[in-house]
This record gives sequence, structure tokens and C-alpha cells, in this order.
Amino acid sequence: MDIISYVSEMPKAELHLHIEGTLEPEMMMALAEKHGVVLPYTTLDEVHAAYNFSDLQSFLDLYYFGASVLRDESDFFDLMWAYLVKCRQQNIVHTEIMFDPQTHTDRGIAFDVMMKGYLGALKQAEAEWGQSFKLIMCFLRHLSQASAFETLGMAEPFSDDIDAVGLDSGELGNPPEKFSDVFAAAAQQGYQCVAHAGEEGPPAYIWGALNSLNVARIDHGVRCLEDDELVAQLVRDQTPLTVCPLSNVRLCVVDEMKDHPILTMLDKGLLVTVNSDDPPYFGGYLNDNFLAMVGGLGLAQDQAKQLAANSFKASFLDEEKKQYFLGALDSF
Ligand code: ADE
Ligand code: ZN
Repeated sequence: MDIISYVSEMPKAELHLHIEGTLEPEMMMALAEKHGVVLPYTTLDEVHAAYNFSDLQSFLDLYYFGASVLRDESDFFDLMWAYLVKCRQQNIVHTEIMFDPQTHTDRGIAFDVMMKGYLGALKQAEAEWGQSFKLIMCFLRHLSQASAFETLGMAEPFSDDIDAVGLDSGELGNPPEKFSDVFAAAAQQGYQCVAHAGEEGPPAYIWGALNSLNVARIDHGVRCLEDDELVAQLVRDQTPLTVCPLSNVRLCVVDEMKDHPILTMLDKGLLVTVNSDDPPYFGGYLNDNFLAMVGGLGLAQDQAKQLAANSFKASFLDEEKKQYFLGALDSF
């Protein structure tokens, strides 16, 4: 089997995907029309032209604006459903999906409107084709810890449906330590913990996420390579890093795909995985990330298989399900 077919068809998990970041321009324009939201673009070409980011913040400004077209339960259902159909097409047999409640509750959308839409789509995909999933509720780090605590409280009725808490949004100036109390409370309530760190922020933010937030995984983490002691610890503990190659290129974390350090990270023994982050904003879904690595980095079949195996090992699935998916990958 050629490498393109192999990476496209191999069973894989996705562990770093923001559902609000899967809003395709067509859906954004349709929902804007439905709700009478005026967008600063009138054509798809204009939308694509706006997706020319200089850094994380320039993307986040558009991302939060785009999410403002999501208003009623069916909008949240449709958004989630469209991503789950991609999972089926790309053989993403398990996905751990991040969502940002504050992006909606801060503009007056009720937590349960969002949640019922998302869960409706997830349960339907589970029933129709056995889609495996977990949910990660992220706190926006540019907001206060008090706001994160409020969000944790709103999630209580849905605590059986939410597996983990995470930390996203503008990294620089918002170190992990700002959220140590709310992460401790979330862990106490039984949630797993993850955090974005070392995307734009320095290695100190990765140390902070490990030591102050007790996270089980680091989202991005590419800047760990600037600190040998940190790399040694991440290798020793096999702390997963959910790396997002196309995102890193589009947000200027690296210049070009050929400069991306993901295969160096793999060689060092880090537990790295491949993920799409915010696919339409960054040029593609999970398979597009693998294909970009084939083209830009010469990704080989054994490396692709290792990355897919890592995605199951790094997941929050129980041991039996991990072994099941690893077995499916082995016999693929
Ligand atoms: N929210 C959505 N995508 C993000 C990213 N790449 N970094 C931080 N926050 C985000
Ligand atoms: Zn992210």
C-alpha cells in the first residue's frame, strides 16, 4: 500500500480538536444569514483571504468572531455532526473533542443549549457507526480564574458526559499558574486535566502546566525542545504531546512544514501525536496533516504507524479499548 493510502486509511485517534474551530466558511455564512449576523465578508474567497494569520492572537480574533453565528441547539448539533462525518471519512475511530463554553455563555447562550446540541450529534454518531469519543471542556485563559470556576459549576449537570478540562486561548501573558485552583477543583471532581502550553509560550509554561495544573497531557508543547531537562522528563514520564503541524505552520510557530520538529520529537522518544486543532482555519483535517507531513517531511509508513499508535496510547480510553484499537492498527 502506498504511503498516501496508508495514512489516509489507517485507524487513528484525534486528541486536539476545537469543535468551534471546525466551523467551515460555508456554514458560517449560512448561519449568519439564518440569524441576521452581518459578517465582514460576502464571498468565500474573502473569507479565505482573511485566514492569513500572523500569530495565535490574529487567528483567535477571527475564531471568536466566527463562533458568534452559533446560536441555537441545531447550530451546535450541525457543527458537531459535520466534524463527526469527517471522522468517519478519515477513519478517526476515536476523538477527544475540545469545546469552549465561555465563547457562548459570555454572549448569552445557555450552557445546556450548547451541550444538548453537541451531545445530540455525538450520541447519534455513536449509534449510527460506533463513533468513539470523549469531551474536553476548555477554559479560556484570557479570562479570569473566577470565570473558569463559574464554567466548572455550569458543567455539573453534564459531568458524566465531560471527561476532562483543558486550557486554551491566548497563551502569552496567561501562564498556567493563573488557573491552579480551578484545575485542582476539577481534578477533585474527577476530571482529567490537559492544557495548551509551549505553542507560543516558553518552556516555563510547560513546566507550569505539569507542576501547577498536574496535567496528563500537553497540547502543542513543541517549544519543549528549547529545554533539555524538560525533554528528558517528558520522555521519562511518557507525557503525551498533542502536536498540530498545519496549525503550527499557519500560526507561524514554524516557518514551513519542512522545518516542523515533529519527527525530531518522535526520534527523541517523546510521546507525540498528530492533530488538526482548527481544521478549516489551518488548511485541513487530520488526514491533511498526515499528508502534509508526507509531502513536507517525508513521513514514512513506520513513523505514521507509530504516530497513530501513540494517539491511542495517549488517549483517555480505558486499557481494554486502547488494546482493541492498537490491535486494529496492527492488523491494518
Ligand atoms: N483555541 C483554538 N485553537 C487554539 C490554539 N491553537 N491555541 C490556543 N487556543 C486555541
Ligand atoms: Zn488548540
